[in-house]
Amino acid sequence: MLNLIDTALKSPLARILTWPHSPESYLEFLAPEVGGKAIKATVKSVRQETNRAVSLVLQPNHRWKGHVPGQYVSLTVSLNGRRHTRCFTVSGEEQGCPVVTIQSHDGGVVSNWANESVWVGDSVEISAPAGDFILPAKRPERFLLIAGGSGITPVRALLDQLVAEDYAGQVDVLYYVPSRKDAIFLAHLTAVTQTNRNMRLHLVETRNSHAALRGHFTAGHLEAIGAELGTSAAYVCGPAALIEAVEQHWLGAGVADRLTLERFQAVKAPVATSADAVPVEFRDSGVTTTAPGRTLLDAAEGAGLTPTSGCRQGICRTCTCRKLAGKVRDIRTGEISGDGEEDIAICVTVPVTPVTLDL
Ligand SMILES: Cc1cc2nc3c(=O)[nH]c(=O)nc-3n(C[C@H](O)[C@H](O)[C@H](O)COP(=O)(O)OP(=O)(O)OC[C@H]3O[C@@H](n4cnc5c(N)ncnc54)[C@H](O)[C@@H]3O)c2cc1C
Ligand code: FES
Repeated sequence: MLNLIDTALKSPLARILTWPHSPESYLEFLAPEVGGKAIKATVKSVRQETNRAVSLVLQPNHRWKGHVPGQYVSLTVSLNGRRHTRCFTVSGEEQGCPVVTIQSHDGGVVSNWANESVWVGDSVEISAPAGDFILPAKRPERFLLIAGGSGITPVRALLDQLVAEDYAGQVDVLYYVPSRKDAIFLAHLTAVTQTNRNMRLHLVETRNSHAALRGHFTAGHLEAIGAELGTSAAYVCGPAALIEAVEQHWLGAGVADRLTLERFQAVKAPVATSADAVPVEFRDSGVTTTAPGRTLLDAAEGAGLTPTSGCRQGICRTCTCRKLAGKVRDIRTGEISGDGEEDIAICVTVPVTPVTLDL
């Protein structure tokens, strides 16, 4: 039944009949228990992790089918009548309920909602899980899991999976935080590494000049913990500067293929967008607009459409859309596409010539 509903929602007729809203939004209103591709969830409980981070245990509806440790969801929350979507790693699962752990950012809309004004019972939407920051099918001899700040969320998920399966190899967690009080999950990580002799936690306090391990990432930290790059599967998630430094080190050592990255933030600053007012046709919706200086995602939203999106930074691929014709520019790299059919991330692309999208 749900499959039939999903197919009907995707039909062009459904789009025309419900324009300018999405068919899903009507179904949500008429039959909230089955409506929408999104997974409805309520905040079941809230747990303070540090002064700046909370964990939200979410109670999802029947559409939640579980996740692979290390994956993330796009979480949408409505605040003052506006929907805001951001990606968050599923840091764990409690009695079948996914948990997201959110660290606050200055001026951050969703992270501050989670840290300051969330209530138990609040409604949110989450996407199906996505992402490939997951353990390899064949476990190597050693794992080196590097995290900075909130980047510990997928690292904890991987560590917990290794514990759950009684992984016998060596696991080193190298965790960068300004100071000890900022370390999310510190009690849990400490307990896990104390009860599993093959697992070790190395806390690096970047701003504590008295700490045994301090400062930003250096090769000296790897030496100090006895890391073996050649035999370890390495993972890194955290601030852009940490990821960059680690990536450069692994590249220099000729073992970049053993490193898996997860970025929470786009690497490069957007390049200037051209102000050309070329037409953009959203063929499925029967809408044509222009996008001067705006991404295709902004143009679609400006035209009253509601495409799915997540990070809005070209990371999560939630907004991926089929381009049927036209050239687009990637605003992060400046690269211009061909004019044929291809999938593009509409949150980081602007039109260069008239563009037709399957949206
Ligand atoms: C795949 C993925 C998984 C993620 N998992 C987690 C997670 O488990 N826990 C978590 O706390 N966050 C996670 N994030 C980051 C999260 O999606 C948001 O970017 C972050 O919470 C800020 O959102 P906001 O609405 O508060 O800030 P916004 O209102 O979007 O931005 C406000 C300000 O914060 C800055 N900012 C935005 N994002 C970041 C960032 N990531 N780092 C530093 N500054 C930023 C902006 O430049 C801006 O100045 C993840 C991101 C991705 C792409
Ligand atoms: S919304 Fe994440 S890639 Fe576009």
